[in-house]
Amino acid sequence: MPSTNVSRRRFLATTAVATSTAWMSTARRARAQKSPGDTVVLGLIGAGGRGASHAVGFAGLENVQFKHICDVNPAKAANVARQVIEKQKREPEVVTDFRRLFDDKDLDAVVIATPEHWHALATIWACQAGKDVYVEKNPSLTIWEGRKMIEAARKYRRIVQVGFQNRSAPYAVTARDYLRSGKLGKVVLVKVYNLLQGGSWNPDLTPAPVPPGLDWDRWLGPAPEVPYSPGRAYWYDWWDYCGGVYSGDASHQLDLARMVLGDPPAPKSTVCLGGNQAFGSKRETPELQCATYAFDDFTMTCDSGTATNMMRKSNNDERNGTKWPHWPTNNERIEIYGTKQLMMLGRHGVGWQVFETDGKLVAEDKGVHPDKWHRPNFAECVRSRELPNSDIEQAHHSANLVHLANTSFRIGGRQLTFDPVAERFTNHEPANTFLRPNYRKDYRVPDAV
Ligand SMILES: NC(=O)c1ccc[n+]([C@@H]2O[C@H](COP(=O)([O-])OP(=O)(O)OC[C@H]3O[C@@H](n4cnc5c(N)ncnc54)[C@H](O)[C@@H]3O)[C@@H](O)[C@H]2O)c1
Repeated sequence: MPSTNVSRRRFLATTAVATSTAWMSTARRARAQKSPGDTVVLGLIGAGGRGASHAVGFAGLENVQFKHICDVNPAKAANVARQVIEKQKREPEVVTDFRRLFDDKDLDAVVIATPEHWHALATIWACQAGKDVYVEKNPSLTIWEGRKMIEAARKYRRIVQVGFQNRSAPYAVTARDYLRSGKLGKVVLVKVYNLLQGGSWNPDLTPAPVPPGLDWDRWLGPAPEVPYSPGRAYWYDWWDYCGGVYSGDASHQLDLARMVLGDPPAPKSTVCLGGNQAFGSKRETPELQCATYAFDDFTMTCDSGTATNMMRKSNNDERNGTKWPHWPTNNERIEIYGTKQLMMLGRHGVGWQVFETDGKLVAEDKGVHPDKWHRPNFAECVRSRELPNSDIEQAHHSANLVHLANTSFRIGGRQLTFDPVAERFTNHEPANTFLRPNYRKDYRVPDAV
């Protein structure tokens, strides 16, 4: 199924059709439409694990090429540039300050694969410079930041696609259609699992010399100034750079769950408990988090972390082949309980199966890893100015499920009520201090984008 069809069908299903349609026409006017065969010129920002995968993946698409590969560690950028040369004729330039990319008139878009604390500011600067953006998940570090990303995308009429690639999976569309058909009955409970294998983890925070070539100050960017240490560089563990495993991994399933449920509005209240009880790790983001979300007419839970070795991720045969996972020990599953049937849904290509009470399988759809559609969808939207499959607006609402749970956890597991219009907590003022990070001078996300 062509990805634009997925985009169109999902897009038409949302309540924001009128607003978004108006936006699409202005976006088309704002930038001359490219023809289907026109080359899309990209710059990569963040040449780590995911950046390398995007560099090779995007450069392997027809008429897509990288002009710049940027990392605050030039050795990493050079390594990725070498991989890209094998995929495209043009040799990309290695850059250490991504602001240089914004001055380049040839560049259509940037792919941002930095740690999370840079996502919002880099996206907003890119939009202000007239560049389209593919930004990795979790798109924002806080709720306020996410709102500013939407404002920038709309104000500068930019395409902003988020790396929630499950939105481009054809099987996610058929799962959503199945739920809509009513065969499952009324959905009453959605259980999201993201229990990764783990162990004791005690990062070394002793200040150490900055590794040769690395610009640590620019790595920190908007985050508070701290000396370099090997433990800090493992950024998933620290609230200043990331929302932990919950944001780094569970966000994929929370987003997929929202999509197949028809993108419901924000939950009325959220509570999240957990901690480092399993292995006593000395890191800020917890080994285990269990959240409960009260939506209007159903309840969602999410159990996430690195606190048990009883579950495992789907392997390649399950993500890209014909094999189904053993659902009870699969840690990437979503269970959707209707009043008549149960849907088991896996991310990143696994697919879905529906069972009745006696365990009888009544429907299924298998998939393959959706990067295959998600990257081309971005390139197509840069040309056509259509809204991408994982536009920043719905991605923001999915990211907020992470932020709601993390805020509840960080204030001691209190149940928080949330006003979805003002995007503020209504029953506990101190929770609102988590809406917006304390930025360093020169790296502030502006109030007015
Ligand atoms: N969608 C997915 O399936 C998926 C999979 C893995 C990772 N991710 C996401 O991709 C992002 C990157 O993750 P990763 O695992 O590649 O991390 P990583 O630590 O391997 O890479 C991050 C890179 O960004 C660089 N960087 C930091 N600040 C920079 C700046 N100001 N300018 C340029 N480069 C800068 C770092 O030096 C590093 O090389 C994260 O948001 C992560 O959640 C998404």
